[in-house]
Amino acid sequence: MSRIFITGSTDGLGLAAARTLMKEGHDVVLHARSRERASAVAEISSTALGTVIGDLASAKETRSIAEQVNAIGRMDAVIHNAGIYLERSRGETPDGHAKTLAVNVLAPYLLTAWIARPDRLVYLSSGMHRSGSSALDDIDWKKRPWNASQAYSESKLYIATLAAAVARHWPDILCNAVDPGWVPTKMGGAGAPDDLEMGHLTQTWLATSDEGAAKVSGGYWYHRQQREAAEEIADSGFQDALVGRLAELTGIRLFEDGR
Ligand SMILES: NC(=O)c1ccc[n+]([C@@H]2O[C@H](COP(=O)([O-])OP(=O)(O)OC[C@H]3O[C@@H](n4cnc5c(N)ncnc54)[C@H](OP(=O)(O)O)[C@@H]3O)[C@@H](O)[C@H]2O)c1
Repeated sequence: MSRIFITGSTDGLGLAAARTLMKEGHDVVLHARSRERASAVAEISSTALGTVIGDLASAKETRSIAEQVNAIGRMDAVIHNAGIYLERSRGETPDGHAKTLAVNVLAPYLLTAWIARPDRLVYLSSGMHRSGSSALDDIDWKKRPWNASQAYSESKLYIATLAAAVARHWPDILCNAVDPGWVPTKMGGAGAPDDLEMGHLTQTWLATSDEGAAKVSGGYWYHRQQREAAEEIADSGFQDALVGRLAELTGIRLFEDGR
């Protein structure tokens, strides 16, 4: 049985993944943005290994999330699931970043750097990553007029690219990105056509399964099948340029060679 930390496990796909993994007998560490949101899942938190609290829009709270996880012990797997979709404006996080970039990309980047390295990492991307732009000069939306859909698409391109970079730099672990499909959660909306069940079972499988098919790294997945992703994702030059920008924006380096 494994020990798994899931970000954003108070709702949607994160909560569904937590329930499935707990039913399978795994030890799950839940995450909520606040104590109020944690109380919304009191019925599963009582049987979880722990519940950590913190808002991913803040680097300080993200640091605290990592410390709370590390205090529980080393995880076998981390599922970077939490995310936000169409924000009305760029917003301004406590660290001065666009909120979509901060929650969807900077926070998982920082948690990857700060949480004791697990054996498996899974990052939630989206089919919308294909509309993301590979220009990296304004990833924090300081120059361009705000475009919520474009910002989300870019964040999902970056997170899938981060997953591919981690897979390349850390060959001793399994690291993958998942497109869960368009599923009926708070984010996806009630009319979403895809299957919530299949929308979360790829993450839980990649995080825990001993099947050979699940023990691969550097993949982009949809419904337990590897899918072709945007070509930049596999481009090591693009990966290093992105990771370099994330290091500049956060002040934290992920890889020992400085990128
Ligand atoms: N649903 C889809 O159709 C779809 C499609 C493609 C990709 N995805 C991806 O799948 C992942 C999960 O999506 P979902 O549909 O399950 O979304 P959801 O129902 O909106 O749930 C998102 C989770 O993330 C948490 N969260 C958001 N902002 C946070 C913050 N600043 N600090 C801490 N926690 C925060 C939410 O907490 P609260 O409960 O407090 O809000 C919630 O637990 C996301 O990365 C999303 O981009 C979803």
